[in-house]
Amino acid sequence: MPNQRDQTKKTDEEKKVIGERKILIFDTTLRDGEQSPGCSMNLHEKLELARQLERLGVDVIEAGFAISSIGDFQSVRGIAEAVKESTVASLARATKDDIDRAWEAVSVAARPRIHTFIATSPIHMKYKLNLMPHQVQEQAVAAVKLAKSYCEDVEFSAEDATRSRPEFLAQLFEAVIKAGATTINIPDTVGYTVPEEYYAFLMKIRERCPALDKVVMSVHCHNDLGMAVANSLAAIKAGAGQIECTINGIGERAGNAAMEEIVMALKTRKDHFQADTNIETTEIARASRLLSQITGIKVQPNKAIVGENAFMHESGIHQHGVLKNKETYEIMTPESVGLVVDNMVLGKHSGKHAFRTKVKELGYQMSDEALEDAFTKFKVIADKKKQIYDRDIEALLSKIALQIPKTYQMERYVINSGNSITATAVVKMLKDGRAIEEVASGDGPVDAAFRAIEKIIGKKVKLDDYQLESVTEGGDALGDATVKISYEGGNYLGRGLSTDVIEASINAYINAVNKMMFELKQLEKEAESAVGGGN
Ligand code: KIV
Ligand code: ZN
Repeated sequence: MPNQRDQTKKTDEEKKVIGERKILIFDTTLRDGEQSPGCSMNLHEKLELARQLERLGVDVIEAGFAISSIGDFQSVRGIAEAVKESTVASLARATKDDIDRAWEAVSVAARPRIHTFIATSPIHMKYKLNLMPHQVQEQAVAAVKLAKSYCEDVEFSAEDATRSRPEFLAQLFEAVIKAGATTINIPDTVGYTVPEEYYAFLMKIRERCPALDKVVMSVHCHNDLGMAVANSLAAIKAGAGQIECTINGIGERAGNAAMEEIVMALKTRKDHFQADTNIETTEIARASRLLSQITGIKVQPNKAIVGENAFMHESGIHQHGVLKNKETYEIMTPESVGLVVDNMVLGKHSGKHAFRTKVKELGYQMSDEALEDAFTKFKVIADKKKQIYDRDIEALLSKIALQIPKTYQMERYVINSGNSITATAVVKMLKDGRAIEEVASGDGPVDAAFRAIEKIIGKKVKLDDYQLESVTEGGDALGDATVKISYEGGNYLGRGLSTDVIEASINAYINAVNKMMFELKQLEKEAESAVGGGN
């Protein structure tokens, strides 16, 4: 059975002969993914992720739902400005206000798309929309016409399509294609269908709606029954030319189809699917890690493609086989998804030139100022840690790239702790240049330090989660701390890195507090300009 190792590069002509199709990848990590609990991201983080999606080669980035909030609008617009290669889409309900706002956000993109949707299943039409099917069709056609008057690239989605009547969908799609839709998305919104059924359903719609063959048929599968990827692959067999998915499979409820699984299934089983994507698969691991760093949500160790154990061989029999010939138990290589052997790269004698070269090699573009900051931090780590690996540098760079303005900065801290005394912490921080010092006691050194910081900021924040793990192995490994706090309905995630776990924890807490302060200041500014505008 041929696998990806056996595949030699084929010319476009050869691909046509064997009927190899290009499947477009529509990434909705920043929209559907961000809708999942604990996955909200700030503008800065979304921009960083969007850049990685572009490096990954995704065809379409759904950057958000522009009308849903000012923050979402700003993110979609910011991403539309920054991204040059991928199409940038905003979601919009089938209404004038939504479509106007979506266009306002994506019009600055090199390749803009408006993605408009309306529900089509009997249950949604009756209870959610309170509309008859012909009214839904009229609204959909009007929405697509309006979107088309702004933008050449218009996607129409029939929400809850898999519980809709295929005859109705076929008729509706015929009408919206006539109105100008260039992509028709047929989602399994509630993760209800199964592969054979979905295949037959899509074939039936294609049969009844010949116009569908002239546009791109897309699918968008949720994972409620764990079949989102299998359903997406069945849809490719039924002629789907675009797959909507997310990194690590994040998304509403049980999530969306995982991009990395679909892409690698197509690549590894090209012999079966005769289809491929434009994805640069060696960027997959980095995209997965970046998303986990931003959201603080780790992937399960046995998750296909990006789980920590996905390429590990524990049993003796497997190890023996793999040592003799990797293909005994490996159907794809870890390198093909960007999991490379972690080289010891730099040390405390490495200079700025070597560091700059490494930064470039890892795919980061940084301003001179950010690079200077990264180099200073690298030197501090290098003084404490003998061997520095790619993953250490990547952890440091991603943290710097995600940095937001610092309202508070650590000046110094002293911790007094032991097994027979109550832990106390003295923390001194700078707020906009002014020094503030507080003392607190707590259940252990980290708790005491967090309480002292809370006193300094003078706000009752809630600590929702705290995790600590090491970036690499060994006694001098870098500690990577993640802190989640909430305040007045907002959730903020902070990360801190240090060879000292208490320092890493304190840095993570301050990072979360600074994100909170940044957002509070933004909200204040928006409120002021709204009042100013009203006068
Ligand atoms: O799940 C769904 O149906 C959606 C649509 C808005 C495409 O997310
Ligand atoms: Zn969805």
